[in-house]
Amino acid sequence: MNIPLLHRLLAAEGAYLPLSALGEDLASVQADLAELIQFGFDLEQHPYLGMAYRGPAERLCPDQIEWQLATKRVGRRIAVWNRVSSTNDVAARAACSGLNDGLVVLAEEQTAGRGRRGRTWVAPPRSSLLMSVVLFPPDPLDHPAWLTALGAVAAAEIVETATGRQARIKWPNDVRVGGRKIAGVLVERGAAASVMGIGLNVNLEAHHLPEPIASQATSIALLTGERADRSELARRLILRLDALYDQGLSSGPDHLTAFWQARFEPLGQRVRVQTSSNVYHGRLVDADLQRGLVLESSPGWIAAHEVLALSCDDEPTPRG
Ligand code: BTN
Repeated sequence: MNIPLLHRLLAAEGAYLPLSALGEDLASVQADLAELIQFGFDLEQHPYLGMAYRGPAERLCPDQIEWQLATKRVGRRIAVWNRVSSTNDVAARAACSGLNDGLVVLAEEQTAGRGRRGRTWVAPPRSSLLMSVVLFPPDPLDHPAWLTALGAVAAAEIVETATGRQARIKWPNDVRVGGRKIAGVLVERGAAASVMGIGLNVNLEAHHLPEPIASQATSIALLTGERADRSELARRLILRLDALYDQGLSSGPDHLTAFWQARFEPLGQRVRVQTSSNVYHGRLVDADLQRGLVLESSPGWIAAHEVLALSCDDEPTPRG
């Protein structure tokens, strides 16, 4: 597929471009445009003015995702599926080979998508980004908390760029905008590899989110009022995951902390923290991916490690 041609149309921001401006050989320009239209890109032809871009294809376009990707690890291989049980399942099967380090699995639909703590993850077909990445992290990065933070930071950044809204991370794996969940991360560990699954609500509409979910969840389209280009978002998410992971490999896990802390929702708030041995209440004054949480509480400070659940004091039940 002629992706540079697609980008020229995109760059015109909806204006018509004469076909003669899109290439020297009119017949091949027409054939390439027909291929884009056939795939599902919304292009509009005017009898004299030429062609204009109107909107993205509804389905994921592998060529568009891979275009000029050139990542070091994440996305060296990409598999786009129509329907799977869970992208984490497909990725876990691929994790039997080290050649699949960095493999990205994307699906249009999951029949058994899952979230943390045995919850299901449901998304209408072609509405979301359902992505899993196979990683063979070396020792200091091989920690579910770090990989979860990696996915959450990358997803939060992509949401911020797409919506212009601030995205916050709610411990340990929720990305939220205005208090509503827009993405979640599920890291699952195998014998040698880890699978990082990310679900990002992209084109979910109001009717996909009946009450009480409507007050707890949102999507990029709901925040912007426009259908978003899922292939472009997938591309950006892969690029960002690769850059953050690569920095982790070269400088160690700590470099991610600042990105994560900047978006960590409950810093400064009164929280309830459940660890494997205790429940603590206090004001959250520090959160570190390696060292855990620090609460200010009378009569002193509490350091909480191995945190199982964290909720703000005004929330009725702790959520994962
Ligand atoms: C959560 O918020 O509890 C985590 C949700 C993770 C959902 C994603 S969608 C892609 C990948 N495949 C799954 O079955 N789950 C993750």
